[in-house]
Amino acid sequence: MTLIKSPKIWEMPGRLITPEKDYISRRQFLKSLGLLGIGSVALMSGCTGEKTAEFRPPAKITDTIPAPGENYPFRKNEKYTSTRALTDEIVAASYNNYYEFTTEKDQVWQLAARLKTEPWEISITGEVEKALNVGIDDLLKKMPLEERIYRHRCVEAWSMIVPWSGFSLKSLIDFARPTHKANYLKMTSFFRRNEAPGQKAVWYPFPYYEALTMAEAMNELSFLATGIYGHDLPKQHGAPLRLVVPWKYGFKSIKGIVKFEFTERRPGTFWNDFQSEEYGFTANVNPTVPHPRWSQATERLIGVNERIPTRMYNGYEAYVAHLYR
Ligand code: MTE
Repeated sequence: MTLIKSPKIWEMPGRLITPEKDYISRRQFLKSLGLLGIGSVALMSGCTGEKTAEFRPPAKITDTIPAPGENYPFRKNEKYTSTRALTDEIVAASYNNYYEFTTEKDQVWQLAARLKTEPWEISITGEVEKALNVGIDDLLKKMPLEERIYRHRCVEAWSMIVPWSGFSLKSLIDFARPTHKANYLKMTSFFRRNEAPGQKAVWYPFPYYEALTMAEAMNELSFLATGIYGHDLPKQHGAPLRLVVPWKYGFKSIKGIVKFEFTERRPGTFWNDFQSEEYGFTANVNPTVPHPRWSQATERLIGVNERIPTRMYNGYEAYVAHLYR
């Protein structure tokens, strides 16, 4: 497989690094530099491809892993489990996608340490009976906490199996009380360029944003994780709050969420707006539909480097296939 490497922010020519106020439209700006089209795919590509074969986890990574707090361990929900072994925790915590920090998977854990996650306010807005803000600690007190083991399949054709701690997205929706006009749920990540150097890359439409239909959001699999492996999320996994939708490619599972917005019309999503030819809105795992730059027929399990066949809906067909008939 050809690996297409995205440049680091400091590798980009200075003329590409422009304060947000200085450009009218990102697309117009890139067009003026001749960076839209084929060239932009190579230069500022979306996901960069899996490179697990040469990957070795670093020793210092353990410093970024929180100790279990008093809530832990969460009640195990035995319905969501795996016949395969869990991915090694250190491997999962050192091979990450988090473009707010860097496009280099093995460096995210170091850069994400800069993010301040306390305090963390979440706003719930749009088509709701009453818009509100809630701190993450208060929200956790209201939610039914549990642990679920899920498979996670990145569009780059690598995968992992991890135990998430958190609560169903449905419980947050019940708490938010959307109106009958709500057809979609949009989620948005933080935007803090001084803490997240990758957000200085103006060719990406930061802050990261994702969306689900209400039927997808209410599906029993849709989960909001606040922890992993029996403790709070390390920052590189999206602390303090991230989405997990295991039947979809990993880019839908947005990290560092600060806003939930219920909408009547379908919102855009980060990758679909950036490169619609490569990343769809729905983005369900489907081994029969290749990504333009790589096959989706198989995946490599990180840590063990085993290549296995990819399953329709990542093996969650029984839970979600009815949503797409
Ligand atoms: N969320 C934000 N805010 N920013 C990102 O760059 N990357 C996505 C997703 N959520 C991303 C994100 C992608 S491409 C993947 S595969 C998963 O996070 C990776 O999650 P992990 O690093 O915890 O394994």
